Amino acid sequence: MTKTAEKVASQSFSFTKENLKTIEKHMGKYPKGREQSALLPMLDIAQRQNGGWLSYACLEAVAKLLNLSPLKVHEVASFYSMFHLDPVGKYHVQVCGTTPCMLRGAEALCERAKKHLGIELKEVTSDGLFSIEEVECLGGCVNAPIVQINDDYFEDLTEDALVDILDKCRGGKMPKPFSAAGRMGSAPFEGMPEESVSKKKRSTKETVTEKTEVIMQVQNAQS
Ligand code: FES
Repeated sequence: MTKTAEKVASQSFSFTKENLKTIEKHMGKYPKGREQSALLPMLDIAQRQNGGWLSYACLEAVAKLLNLSPLKVHEVASFYSMFHLDPVGKYHVQVCGTTPCMLRGAEALCERAKKHLGIELKEVTSDGLFSIEEVECLGGCVNAPIVQINDDYFEDLTEDALVDILDKCRGGKMPKPFSAAGRMGSAPFEGMPEESVSKKKRSTKETVTEKTEVIMQVQNAQS
């Protein structure tokens, strides 16, 4: 039996009662006969229940509920990088390799992470904790380079910051998402320009003063 066949044969899957209720809600959002539109959230639910990846049994379970062929479900699941068709680590590290992140050091980040964890792309560490994958644009280009770990984004990353995150994950304490440059959202690296902050404050103050003056004028006219 090939490795893939072994993997397929060893898997069984059925949704939990809670997840079936959630799935019913998703299917109920669509008109009768159009329930297949709930395919993406159902794949997400199946993946989370199955430890982060979609086995063939998961695809079959989803296909059965939606009256689709497993092949159709596989076509969708294999298109999106957020779905994994092979087992992943507890911490699945996705390094964005598209141009803005590449120009800001994504390749070096990827190499450092691989070296630090001792695995290649799409491999899982022997303790099952980590896997690495290179993905296309994660939609956070202004804060490049971006690395996504499970559901969280880490932004403006440096190699040392990434290694620190990986070590914290290994210790069971995954940090909250942050920008390694310490900036808020996509604000300029130097922070918000002083002038624009004070201008904003001034204009708010001016507006309040103007409104107060108008109210006083109305009150005076009425008295
Ligand atoms: S290019 Fe990396 S987030 Fe867009």
